[in-house]
Amino acid sequence: MRLVLGAAILAGASLQPLAALAQDYPSKPITIVVPAAPGGPTDTLARTLAASMTPLLKQTFLIDNSGGAGGIIGINKAAKAKADGYTVLLYHLGMATSPALYRKLPYDTLNDFDYVGVVADVPMLLIAKKTMDAANFREFLAYARANMDKLTYSHAGVGSASFLCGLLFMSSTQTTFTTVGYKGTGPAMNDLVGGQVDFMCDQATNSVPQVRSGNVKAYGVTTAARLAALPDLPTLDEQGLKGFELVVWNGLFAPRGTPKPALDRLVAALQHAVQDPPFRARMADLSSEPASLARATPEALRDLLKAEVEKWTPIIRKAGVFAD
Ligand code: MLT
Repeated sequence: MRLVLGAAILAGASLQPLAALAQDYPSKPITIVVPAAPGGPTDTLARTLAASMTPLLKQTFLIDNSGGAGGIIGINKAAKAKADGYTVLLYHLGMATSPALYRKLPYDTLNDFDYVGVVADVPMLLIAKKTMDAANFREFLAYARANMDKLTYSHAGVGSASFLCGLLFMSSTQTTFTTVGYKGTGPAMNDLVGGQVDFMCDQATNSVPQVRSGNVKAYGVTTAARLAALPDLPTLDEQGLKGFELVVWNGLFAPRGTPKPALDRLVAALQHAVQDPPFRARMADLSSEPASLARATPEALRDLLKAEVEKWTPIIRKAGVFAD
């Protein structure tokens, strides 16, 4: 009799923290780990998302920019963070490419994270410094091919979206360029605007404003259709790079073992955010697509990540590129 009672008390006891958490969560600011430098596309998305998740959670967010190694440093930081609901990770398809690019990763991509949901899909643009002597993509490609030993391509590290886009661009045009790695495309964009580097492929959330203000030249978008925000800018596909398509999905993750009550609250807040008019307006202004409610779920992100690892691994292996 006593044994059973003991077990019941223990069970009751272990449930109490969860019940309390369900009531009190969140009782302090939540940190979003951004595996890239401030001012870049992932940082912009994290800050826009946080503003729309805060009302439902009645709690603020702190942005922890931990850039470097194509995102590996920040991803690992989130994987090793305390699984208490107060640390989440915002990152993108780079989560799916790094298992193939790095022989040794300090975390297990498919098993060290819990999932909150997909956040948004972001197209990429092929852009160059404004002094680039080419009026359109055809002229740019001809110039680039003739000056492969001179031109530099900037990116946010091996495993980043800008690195992957560069890899696809070079393999689909049979070109190679000196590449310059940064902790994010925020600082890379500063150097491109300043003319210290020559060209880059970057997410619309970072490049559309620079194209609009004439700080950089744009030669094409990586989506199948043109962007509403830049209707005169052709796709790379329609300019001869047949089938060139790259859209950067972004997802919200948490360290594995994050309590379910906290995950449920985060999912609810994400679902609120992707429907939130200010979030949707900002994404539209940056030619990006908020996730649907069906994709802003743990299951959808889990399945997407698994499918993307399976998709990109053979492509990267074929390219024979390793970061380490
Ligand atoms: C960033 O925020 O800097 C980007 O996500 C970098 C990238 O992946 O190209």
